[in-house]
This record gives sequence, C-alpha cells and structure tokens, in this order.
Amino acid sequence: KSLKEFNTFGIDCQARYFVSVGTVTELKEVLSQKPSEKLFILGGGSNMLLTQNLDAFVIQINLKGIEIVSENENEVFVKAMAGENWHDFVQYCIQNDFGGLENLSLIPGNVGTSPIQNIGAYGVELKDTFESCTALEIATLDEKIFTKEACKFEYRNSIFKNEAKGKYIITSVTFRLTKSQHLQNISYGDIQAILAEKTIENPSLQNISEAVISIRKSKLPDPNVLGNSGSFFKNPVVDLETFKNFRIKFPEAPFYEISPTEFKIPAGWLIENAGFKGKRFGDAGVHAKQALVLVNHGNATGQEIWNLAMEIQKKVKEMTGIFIEPEVNVI
Ligand code: EPU
Repeated sequence: KSLKEFNTFGIDCQARYFVSVGTVTELKEVLSQKPSEKLFILGGGSNMLLTQNLDAFVIQINLKGIEIVSENENEVFVKAMAGENWHDFVQYCIQNDFGGLENLSLIPGNVGTSPIQNIGAYGVELKDTFESCTALEIATLDEKIFTKEACKFEYRNSIFKNEAKGKYIITSVTFRLTKSQHLQNISYGDIQAILAEKTIENPSLQNISEAVISIRKSKLPDPNVLGNSGSFFKNPVVDLETFKNFRIKFPEAPFYEISPTEFKIPAGWLIENAGFKGKRFGDAGVHAKQALVLVNHGNATGQEIWNLAMEIQKKVKEMTGIFIEPEVNVI
C-alpha cells in the first residue's frame, strides 16, 4: 500500500502490510496475530521522512474519542484518544473554554504522537498541560500509565524517543486544563503584535488561538498544499566556548540564553545564513518563509530530501561550527 496520503511530506513509499485500528481491543488482536514482520506504528505521519519502502507491518492508530475524566472548581482533566487530530482537539478545548492548549493551535499530527517529541510552539510545550498517557506495551499487551514525571519531557524529547522507543503504543493522553482564570501565555512577540494591532487587551483563548493560526499560516506551509514536516531540525543548544566563537564571527545572530553556559540558536537563522532559504533542488526545497522547514514541491523522494538535509547540515557546520540535528524521524 502506498503511504503517500499517510505522511505530510507526501512521500510515495510502499508498506508491505497495512492495517488501521479503531479500538484498543482491535489493536491488541492485531498485535497478537500479526506476521513476524517488523512493526511500524503510524500516527498522523507529520513528523517523519520516509526514505525507503517499509518492509514492515504498518499499524495506523485510528482510536477516536474525547472524554472529561474529572473536574474541580478551576480545572478539568480531559482524555483524548490517540487517533484524534491534534488541531481538532485543540479547537474542541477552546470551544469549551478549557485553557492551556491554545498556543499549540494548528500543529499537524495526532494526539497520540504529541508526547513523543513534547510538541511545542509560541512559549508553550505539551508538558505544561500533560497529566498522563496510557500506552500498550507491545511485548506483553499490558496497558501502562505514564505520569508526566515518567515521560521525562525535555525540549522536543521524551522517554518515547529514548528508553521506551519502539516498546509502547500510546493509546490516549489526558490533559490538565483550566476552566477559568486561564494562565494565558502571550510572551511571544508575534502574538503580542497581533493582539496590539487588533487592540485586544484581555484576550480570550479564541483570540490567542487565532493569533497563533495567523502566525503559523504566514510562515509555515500547509502540508495539504506543500508537503513538509514542520521544523526539520531542532534549534541547537551550544556551550559557552562554541557560543563565544560563534558570536565573534556572527555578532548579529539571534540567540536565547538558557543558562550562563547554554545558548540556543535558531536553526532557521543558521540555514538562512548558509544561503539555503527558498532554494530548490529538483522537487526538494527549503521553504521561502521559514528556512527551518524542508518542503516537497511535488515528487521528491525521501532520499532527495534527506540528501538536501545532509548538505545543509554540512554547510552550516563548516560556516558556523555548529551542528544541527534533525527533529523529524528519518526512516
Ligand atoms: N529565523 C531566521 N530565518 C528563518 C527562520 C527563523 O533568521 O528562515 C530566526 C529569526 O531570528 C527568528 C528566529 O529564528 O526570530 C525564531 O524563528 P521562529 O519564531 O519562526 O521559531 P523557530 O525557532 O524557527 C520554533 C519551533 C517551531 C515553533 C516556533 C514558534 C523548533 C525546532 N521549532 O521555530 O516548531 O512553531 O518555534 O514557537 O523548536 C515544529 O517543531 O515543527 C515547529 C514548527
């Protein structure tokens, strides 16, 4: 089966076996009966680059449902099944005036894969509202609960990219959201600018979500129009020594001080500075409005996109001494 429709890069790779599961019972059944092929778990396909056909048994997680688990005066615990579309879930929360996810509007992908890389944007990360998730252990078919601490969240990282990698299938995620006295985060300059322009002083969740949507639309390509996986690289964090050498060469470069010895540098700036912004090599390219995003102009193969990524990585390292690491899962 072609996976072209199942990955936002729109790469036309084939899967040897493909099955979509709609319930946890079905998922357990499939796992207990599957052929001995390697297993490949597919969520929204929004954070991966397929560079070859998958000689594997692909299971698409299509579990649906949203449920209020409990609530108190100011908080509500909402559980969403793994196959729920992320943005639709965020919109459901905003419509119900549940606060906490509005800054994460319009991120592609599904709820079930959101904890794996601790998705984040505009000053907010998934971990800020994450309560727990349930995951099926592939080897035993036991369902396990992962608390926030157990997930070991970091910038674009969690236990599911490390020790637990390939061992579990996340089936649902529970969020701890506010019902009133929302803790809105409008620290990001672009959000403030939009609110100021519209003279909104006390923004609602909806106002913030709309601001985020308009920022994203202005910078990030719509995967339905132009294949992509969002940021292709992580923003590198460098030590003081590397940072000093970098600053001498590029005093104008933007940076963010994480601690006195750790500095985050926008990979988008490094890539733009290396001359790749808006460039196109066949159907593989770098987005014209945000250099951190690699795009498929139509029929690029995963290998072509990967070659471009490696060329960017090499050039950035040569010019700045900084190594940028892919954020997407390269398969
Ligand atoms: N910049 C450039 N040229 C570019 C792009 C960026 O010079 O082409 C510089 C600018 O100085 C800009 C700065 O980089 O001020 C930061 O850019 P932006 O605010 O667009 O954010 P980012 O660091 O490039 C990160 C996330 C995005 C997230 C935004 C907003 C990562 C890897 N990416 O991008 O996440 O939406 O912040 O919070 O951390 C994603 O992960 O797929 C994603 C889109």
